Amino acid sequence: MPPLSIAPSILAADFAHLADAVALVADTADLLHVDVMDGHFVPNLSIGPPVVKALHSVTDLPLDCHLMMTNPGEYLEAFRQAGAHSCTVHVEIGDTAELIKQMRDLGLGVGLALNPDCRFDAVKPFMADIDMLLVMSVFPGFGGQSFIADVLTTVEAARDLVAVQGLPTVIQVDGGIDTATIGAAAAAGATNFVAGTAVFGQANPSEAVTALRNTANAALAA
Ligand code: DX5
Ligand code: ZN
Repeated sequence: MPPLSIAPSILAADFAHLADAVALVADTADLLHVDVMDGHFVPNLSIGPPVVKALHSVTDLPLDCHLMMTNPGEYLEAFRQAGAHSCTVHVEIGDTAELIKQMRDLGLGVGLALNPDCRFDAVKPFMADIDMLLVMSVFPGFGGQSFIADVLTTVEAARDLVAVQGLPTVIQVDGGIDTATIGAAAAAGATNFVAGTAVFGQANPSEAVTALRNTANAALAA
């Protein structure tokens, strides 16, 4: 069983003080989740490579970019140059095999995401070629939404495939993760947890990361 990792989503941080927000979780977080929204794939706009570059200059945490975009292939190189450690593209946009190859060739960690209404079958053929499967537990576009428990069946299906095939693929969940929901996600087989509101929406983000990790570990020990 790989160790659990917590990825605070900077979407919930104060954009006017991003460096301060990142410094707050530097000692407890494992990586940073960077939500990139294009106004097409999702009905919201957020940030792009210039902000990744700025983050890269103030933190040693790996920058994991969640690309909620219709055309991520046109920007992967820019994200790499900006300092992205890994990128995740959505299976719903198609061209998955080509995008995976592009990310590999650039030396990026390779993530593939699926929305809550997407069947596991859509990502199954790619599981051996990716480093991380991102199971969305909300419909992407906004932070602060409620966890959709139905996606736990997808997490379980991914966990079972990973076990049967002996794959190193990490299973990440994103959306509505807090101390009330992280236990169920961990029990279903997720090992990497994105949390925005449950970290940066709290008075002490560093303690919030630790609380999430402890809650997930407790659920596995139960
Ligand atoms: C949703 C984003 C999530 C979001 C999570 O579109 O992909 O990463 O920031 O925010 P919370 O943890 O508040 O649900
Ligand atoms: Zn995200």
